[in-house]
Amino acid sequence: MSNRPLNVGLIGGGKGAFIAHPHQRAIHFDGTRRVVAGALFPDPKIALEEAANWPYPIKGYGSYDDMIKAQASLPEEERLDYVVIVTPNHVHFDPAMKALKANIPVFCEKPLTVTLKEAATLVKEVRKRKIPFGVSHTYLGHWTSRFSRFIVRSGLLGDIRWVDSYYLQGWLATKLEDAGVQGASWRTNPKLAGASCCGGDIGTHALMQLRYVTGLDVTKVSAQMEIFVPGRKLDDHFTVYCELSNGAKAMVRASQICHGHKNDLGIEIVGTKGTLRWRQEDPECLIIHLPGQPDRVYWRGAVSPKDGFLGDVPQELLAESLTPSGHPEAFHDAFARLHRCFEADVRKWKAGKSFSCDGSKYATVEDGWMGMAFIETCLKSNTKNGGWVSMPKKI
Ligand SMILES: NC(=O)c1ccc[n+]([C@@H]2O[C@H](COP(=O)([O-])OP(=O)(O)OC[C@H]3O[C@@H](n4cnc5c(N)ncnc54)[C@H](O)[C@@H]3O)[C@@H](O)[C@H]2O)c1
Repeated sequence: MSNRPLNVGLIGGGKGAFIAHPHQRAIHFDGTRRVVAGALFPDPKIALEEAANWPYPIKGYGSYDDMIKAQASLPEEERLDYVVIVTPNHVHFDPAMKALKANIPVFCEKPLTVTLKEAATLVKEVRKRKIPFGVSHTYLGHWTSRFSRFIVRSGLLGDIRWVDSYYLQGWLATKLEDAGVQGASWRTNPKLAGASCCGGDIGTHALMQLRYVTGLDVTKVSAQMEIFVPGRKLDDHFTVYCELSNGAKAMVRASQICHGHKNDLGIEIVGTKGTLRWRQEDPECLIIHLPGQPDRVYWRGAVSPKDGFLGDVPQELLAESLTPSGHPEAFHDAFARLHRCFEADVRKWKAGKSFSCDGSKYATVEDGWMGMAFIETCLKSNTKNGGWVSMPKKI
């Protein structure tokens, strides 16, 4: 394919949308991708108005059905190269399936779907078509998440014994859904969010961070999914004790009632030889603790290829860091890194070459399925008051 920028279509993004905007900014980060079209709102008239008022020119559509149909009929070079789905959870499955059937790659927000069955259907369709599909687990896109994964896999920490992976927020500590706050209204509505609020919304991020950094899977769960705000229908506090595939134990926990916590996602990995600690609110560094030695702080942009302590650090990993240390990266850079890696796979796919989509650069449709399997298994455990329940076999 020519070297033109990839053309991206947004599904969702009108009227006060949140996550559509970090995505659209990150899409434009490198000049090699651009948003050119959008189906931005459920009401067709408003969708077209919102597109006409978008900060730069895009082709507006009244619905994602119209957008996908119109795009599928265009010659391949003029067609959207991928769509980004940034709608509430109940509007992930249908547009994703329709885009896949039109042979358009998909980058979808998490949680992948509202049921495990829908997630399995998406996995089958992606495998049948061998088409790029990414799930937007933002925090894998931090360079320090990549680096943490490298350190754990290098064996420096020894065998993993214990992992604490958490995502704590305080914004739903009061009944914001009754105050008409858009993001609170759909997240706490089982028809729109699925069977879990806190677990699906942010517990899946904590799970993905654990799986990505350690390479381990959750095999069994003992879950408590609690509702602290009176009158709410879905969990706002989610605590899961887990058994991992190497026999280690872990806590995957999330909360939306913890005053003072904003987007406090973090991970602590404890091995037989040492511990690694990282927090996304302070994403430029990670800390390694080895017993009897001073703590070591590694900063993105200041890691040497011949590190005296870690040994050789792969050039491919170092090259993913784009600015020197002290010129801080954050949330938007993480999104951009995911889109950059997805772009590389889309370009290879369009050129008929093999592409990786192997989970090392962004979460895959199988990772999205695993998030849904985790939530459904936790729901079962919760109904047994935290009794242990095994996760289903990998799809
Ligand atoms: N990766 C992350 O860090 C992250 C952060 C926040 C939200 N999310 C996920 O992103 C998704 C959206 O969350 P949000 O907070 O941006 O929600 P939001 O309510 O702010 O925005 C949702 C957007 O979808 C649009 N929409 C709804 N139905 C539609 C339809 N049928 N057709 C077209 N547009 C439609 C709405 O008009 C709105 O523009 C959710 O799945 C959420 O879990 C992910």
